[in-house]
Amino acid sequence: MNLYDRIPNNVNLSEDKKLQRALEKWLPNFLDWWREMGPEGFQEKDVWLRTAIDVGSEGWAHFDYVKMPEYRWGIFLEPPQPDAKVGFGDNYGRPAYQEVPGEFRNALRRIIVTQGDTEPASVEQQRQLGKTCPSLYDLRNLFQVNVEEGRHLWAMVYLLHGYFGRDGRDEADALLERRSGNPDKPRILEAFNQPCDDWLNFFAFTMFTDRDGKYQLSALAESGFEPLARTCQFMLTEEAHHMFVGDTGLGRVVRRTAQLMKQGDVRELGGIPLNVVQKYINFWFSYSLDLFGGEISSNSADFFAAGLKGRYKEREQYTDHLATNENFTMTIVEDGQLKTREVPLRNALNEVLRGEYVKDCEKGLARWNKVLADEGASERLYLPNPRFHRHVGEYAGHTFDLQGNLISREEFESRKSEWLPTMEDREYVRSLMHPVYEPGKIANWIAPPAAGIKGKPFEFEYVKL
Ligand SMILES: [Fe+2]
Ligand SMILES: [Fe+2]
Repeated sequence: MNLYDRIPNNVNLSEDKKLQRALEKWLPNFLDWWREMGPEGFQEKDVWLRTAIDVGSEGWAHFDYVKMPEYRWGIFLEPPQPDAKVGFGDNYGRPAYQEVPGEFRNALRRIIVTQGDTEPASVEQQRQLGKTCPSLYDLRNLFQVNVEEGRHLWAMVYLLHGYFGRDGRDEADALLERRSGNPDKPRILEAFNQPCDDWLNFFAFTMFTDRDGKYQLSALAESGFEPLARTCQFMLTEEAHHMFVGDTGLGRVVRRTAQLMKQGDVRELGGIPLNVVQKYINFWFSYSLDLFGGEISSNSADFFAAGLKGRYKEREQYTDHLATNENFTMTIVEDGQLKTREVPLRNALNEVLRGEYVKDCEKGLARWNKVLADEGASERLYLPNPRFHRHVGEYAGHTFDLQGNLISREEFESRKSEWLPTMEDREYVRSLMHPVYEPGKIANWIAPPAAGIKGKPFEFEYVKL
């Protein structure tokens, strides 16, 4: 196999012997991992996929039929900015780091490994979904997300191989060894160990959990370590489609549910009741909030001080890039009550980023509520309070209702089944999941999309089965 022809890149791979040697060892392991843990049952099928071939704002992607194991996972970074500077923190205004600064080496490796670990994890979580797709259009979107998460893994492995030595290669190997949901070698972050075994989960995951990815990548796209910044900037172009899949997927479920509500009992008609959709929102929104880390965090302060991880749109949105003089008012739990506390801003940056994320999620809710209004339904969907059902940070270990009121554990346990998917809910949703493989056909529980992909109609044969 000619390795370099198979890896489209703009990092001059053909000249970089050290990187070649590292990738030569890693690539076969990656392909083994893909065959073992990638989408089950569709490896030999032709799928109409986009492949990143360039970083230009026009024509960065090429669309064609490809078998997934032959997908050309490439390595692309946005072009360098001449004269790039560290954009925030204690080294604000100094030249951007082109190599890993020794004193930040461990922190930087940890950031890259944590991001990298989520990419294969989501492929593992989603590997059975092809067997129950609601349409060929959706099947293709699932596989598009999967191969691009694979490419995002490549992007992080490129950084580990290219900028760290032996320990970087070891970490790159370990990224292929952990497994989502495996008790002995789980993925690093909890949302990525949760099963994602039906399409309502998938749409909620791509809506809420991929959106966490958008905000983490945006914060890293500001990084003073330029190779990381440029890598993440390009990943964001692909990530937008993943969130589109989740946002429009849930919107289509909501539309279909609202249509069925007009006809009678949604369950009897084979749809997904709105309160079940709401529970899935509550579940994935709360787990995704955990991904931002603790509300009060010395790590966030250290990463910012070091110039490694900025705020969302740091350069565009802020004028004070030092963030040393401000405080952030945080709601905390003290003596069994909610109280406010002033926290130095740098220690509150996880919460600041989480706040940006929540605002973005609210826009999605507004779109779905518009669908409900358009279909003449008076019900509305909402986001739970960010304190609800948290496992990380200030609110973990306490129990809250959907409005964020502190409640007893007994009350939470007794009302949990109103708020979060029950076994019965999950089984009911799973009972609706039957594959629809005929071009132009769609499952009963979801509305067709408003348009196809890249100018193709919905009826297009997106996957040749
Ligand atoms: Fe990703
Ligand atoms: Fe993604």
